[in-house]
Amino acid sequence: MRPKIELHLHLEGGAPPAFIRGIAREKGVDLSSIFRHDGGYAYKDFGHFLKVYEAATSVLTRPEDYGRLTRAVLEESAANGVVYSEAFLSPDFCGGGDVGAWREYLSAIAETARKAEADLGITLRGIVTCIRHFGPEKAKTIARCAAETKGDFLNGFGIAGDEMVGKPRDFRWAFDCAREAGLRLTAHAGEWGGADSVRDAIRDLAVERIGHGVQAIDDPALVDDIAEAGITLECCPGSNVFLGVYPDWASHPIEKLREKGVKVTVSTDDPPFFHTTMRTEYDRLSATFGWDETVFEEIEANALAAAFCDEETRARIAKTLKKGT
Ligand code: ADE
Ligand code: ZN
Repeated sequence: MRPKIELHLHLEGGAPPAFIRGIAREKGVDLSSIFRHDGGYAYKDFGHFLKVYEAATSVLTRPEDYGRLTRAVLEESAANGVVYSEAFLSPDFCGGGDVGAWREYLSAIAETARKAEADLGITLRGIVTCIRHFGPEKAKTIARCAAETKGDFLNGFGIAGDEMVGKPRDFRWAFDCAREAGLRLTAHAGEWGGADSVRDAIRDLAVERIGHGVQAIDDPALVDDIAEAGITLECCPGSNVFLGVYPDWASHPIEKLREKGVKVTVSTDDPPFFHTTMRTEYDRLSATFGWDETVFEEIEANALAAAFCDEETRARIAKTLKKGT
């Protein structure tokens, strides 16, 4: 199987529904309202998705729950050929923003990742992510958690959540704090908020990657700017199609952005929520746009270059990619 790099994966968003149901059962929590009869997550639109996501996450109350989650997510990623992954981690959900508690959650995640590297052959790195609809004050607390725990495992800082709440500039302090601590930066933008949202995130937060960013396609000058600046887009086409950002795969702008010289990459976002995997994403891209080995090699090269890991790790992953193709 082709080795793959994934740059945009929410750790809780990778939780298999059976895993969450199992933990809920162990803790005697009734979460039946967030599941469909066939066992999958039940939600009707993006706003509802965020609520169901938070409800599912609410049963993960201890560092060891996050250790088990990390193992479940990495097993699934490795089974789909992922050899290097960056996961969004949320101190809001892991200790409520308390740095001491966050350190314990982070240790459980990083320790599980270290073991999985040895026995599954997948390398994980973390990106602390603040949640936009929790507001700028919360984001400051989360940035401090990130700054305090930057290290070999934790390399980045970002923002997720409801893009229609607030503006990127409201989060400038948090991003400045993370940058000053040496963290690399990404922001969700242009999933729901249009091209302006992407332009604002690049200008006001000085990020080097954009989560999604696909709605930049509606502003040709912005697309040129993104290509020229070498900003990488963490595209998640299956997520966008499932949530209705685009009606079908053929309408997704990933190929148009690529043709215009934008560095695009491919990720799953929240795979069980969107009924996708990295293998499914690759198969659909191949079937829809005729992407072949050469294009996938370009995509992997983009992802490797934009990964937030140290250079030694990048060189090791480069070798793994070469061996596998
Ligand atoms: N959190 C988890 N998935 C997300 C998405 N697709 N957009 C914004 N925030 C998220
Ligand atoms: Zn996302």
